[in-house]
Amino acid sequence: MNDTHSAWPHKDLLDVTQLNGEQTRRILDLANGFREINTRPVKKVPTLKGKTVMLFFAENSTRTKTSFDVAAKRLSADTFSLATAGSSINKGESLKDTGLTLEAMNPDIIVIRHQASGAARYLAEKLKCSIINAGDGWHAHPTQALLDCFTLDQFWRGDFKNRELLILGDIAHSRVARSNIHLLHSLGVKLRVCAPRTLLPAGIDDWPVEVYPDLEQAADGADAIMALRLQLERQQAGLLPDLGEYAKRYCLSERHLKLAKPGAKVLHPGPMNRGLEISDEIADGAASLVLDQVAAGVSVRMAILYLLAGRNEDKNAVA
Ligand code: CP
Repeated sequence: MNDTHSAWPHKDLLDVTQLNGEQTRRILDLANGFREINTRPVKKVPTLKGKTVMLFFAENSTRTKTSFDVAAKRLSADTFSLATAGSSINKGESLKDTGLTLEAMNPDIIVIRHQASGAARYLAEKLKCSIINAGDGWHAHPTQALLDCFTLDQFWRGDFKNRELLILGDIAHSRVARSNIHLLHSLGVKLRVCAPRTLLPAGIDDWPVEVYPDLEQAADGADAIMALRLQLERQQAGLLPDLGEYAKRYCLSERHLKLAKPGAKVLHPGPMNRGLEISDEIADGAASLVLDQVAAGVSVRMAILYLLAGRNEDKNAVA
């Protein structure tokens, strides 16, 4: 891989807030290079041979866990998975002891998803190996934001300035929204959000976003729309008294997309609640980038594993 920059300065990837513009661009450019590997008949390079990546997923995942596993294996790293089900977490073992136990087997990187905001940082402060945050509570999902940014970069051809992205749905409980808003704002994207008041976080007025209660107004003239999953498992009772009413007002459909700019695209981080936050016609339609996002996840995660695993090495040893 052609990456001639200096050593990567970060031990861990905990949130996009730790990345400057140059570092974000470096991840996107590297991911673009790794994308080619993912289209080859033999999708494997020896870049991380001998490295060990542990996937510690205390919360459910399809896309993030699988794509980290695929990314590590395509770079020839060894991977091992731990989930809450079947582990000693179910016997009461603490996060600290679980982390120390995994580190005693000498991994290079632990990828963690956890229901507690701050879990990844907690482990990063305790362990010497690199920690990648694969989603912690409502707090952050940095690799999702980077893959969304990569997907938009392919579509917008590197021109983020003054593009308008609408993020629609459950902003309050969304780590995806938090990470995307920070990252895309830092690149010059103008952010709109649309949700019922009960699904907007306290303090939204201090975020770099324009708030729209009405989806038709919010979609009008947008360059792209990102629908979010309703995080029903994280919501307190009473935030949404009637899901049918929610769908009537906030489910993204063709009539909303027609109000956006011609050629506007639709993103969703998945998993989707079809008919609730996004219609079938949009999810499966020509404007949908949902599966491009999934494919981007492998390339972007390859780039992140490469940078973290290679940060203390002679560059030729991992290139
Ligand atoms: N977008 C996302 O994090 O999906 P998974 O929960 O399937 O990993």
